Amino acid sequence: MIKVFDLFAGVGGFRVGAEKVFKKNKLDFEFTGWSEIDKYCQLTYKANFNTNNEFFIDDIKKITSYKKVDCNINNFTNKNRSTHIKKHIPKFDLLFAGFPCQSFSKMGNQNSLNDDRGALFFDIAAILHSIKPKYFILENVNRILTIDNKKTIMTIMNTLEKLGYKTDLFKLDSKDYGVPQTRRRVFIYGCKKELDIKIGLPNPKIIKSTKTTKNILLKEVNPKYILSKQILKTILSHGTGGYYQKSEIDLEIARPLTKTMVKMHRAHQDNYYSNKFILGDKKQKWIRRLTPLEAFRLQGFKDNFVKKAYNAGVSDTQLYMQAGNAVTVKVVESILILLLDNNWFLK
Ligand SMILES: C[S@@+](CC[C@H](N)C(=O)[O-])C[C@H]1O[C@@H](n2cnc3c(N)ncnc32)[C@H](O)[C@@H]1O
Repeated sequence: MIKVFDLFAGVGGFRVGAEKVFKKNKLDFEFTGWSEIDKYCQLTYKANFNTNNEFFIDDIKKITSYKKVDCNINNFTNKNRSTHIKKHIPKFDLLFAGFPCQSFSKMGNQNSLNDDRGALFFDIAAILHSIKPKYFILENVNRILTIDNKKTIMTIMNTLEKLGYKTDLFKLDSKDYGVPQTRRRVFIYGCKKELDIKIGLPNPKIIKSTKTTKNILLKEVNPKYILSKQILKTILSHGTGGYYQKSEIDLEIARPLTKTMVKMHRAHQDNYYSNKFILGDKKQKWIRRLTPLEAFRLQGFKDNFVKKAYNAGVSDTQLYMQAGNAVTVKVVESILILLLDNNWFLK
């Protein structure tokens, strides 16, 4: 039996992928707990998974950094902290954690590990140190590899190694794994040093797919998703102040979805589609944004997942944020299949 903990769970992209792959491979598994601070993500998560008997904590820091002193990044092996974590979090074998990336990404403030959110890596480290699960998979933006002259990624990899893990990483783009969205992400994966399994694996096999956004866009949507004339002007304007950026719409491979897409960025940063593209009309009549359902499709989620969230009362605004923050399910699946093929999770 492999016990799994879903940290920084969001809406559970890791879990959707893992449940599918583990069930298909007849692996005995159980999610023992999860942590997610955002109450709307919690709603979507609970609407889609049976979490009744699972351990749950909203803010993981309530357990990992319950004393101010524990927030010190050099203090993740502190004995009292460890005892506290062990007392509260039930044992597990596999940790998933797409840790908050604002402080690493280009749009964030780039304070890296010194930022409260970046420092959440050390809460992961404290958990690994205390619970000592056999395996983990962490996800973050590609920028984590270069920020701060690579000091951040070196600190992360060295810390994991010191904690007793063999680690490596995959740099993957969602568009290579069956969804028409460019989304480059880093997946750091590791296992306990004493386990006799391979690390340093080649990237998961690319899924050759002819799927484009045409296959996922709805032919008919609520007119509220169509852009008004006023807003169109701003959205379609090219960059200003000498920063020319071409505003292209109707992309067959969508741009990366973002947490803030609800605000509607200009067309060179966001995804917009016209009736010409969607319906094959000769004349352009309207341009619209993605619907939340389409955004989730671009992340590899099934329609029923979104339906359940709507039924639980989650709004469009929240759903856009959740889709923009999620991990692409098909990428998770591809990683897990590769690891299983290399005898992971069996020991
Ligand atoms: C990059 S997202 C992970 C998304 C997830 N992989 C998914 O598929 O939806 C990071 C998540 O961490 C959550 N988070 C941030 N700080 C947290 C904390 N202190 N404790 C628990 N969750 C936190 C955020 O609300 C966000 O949903």
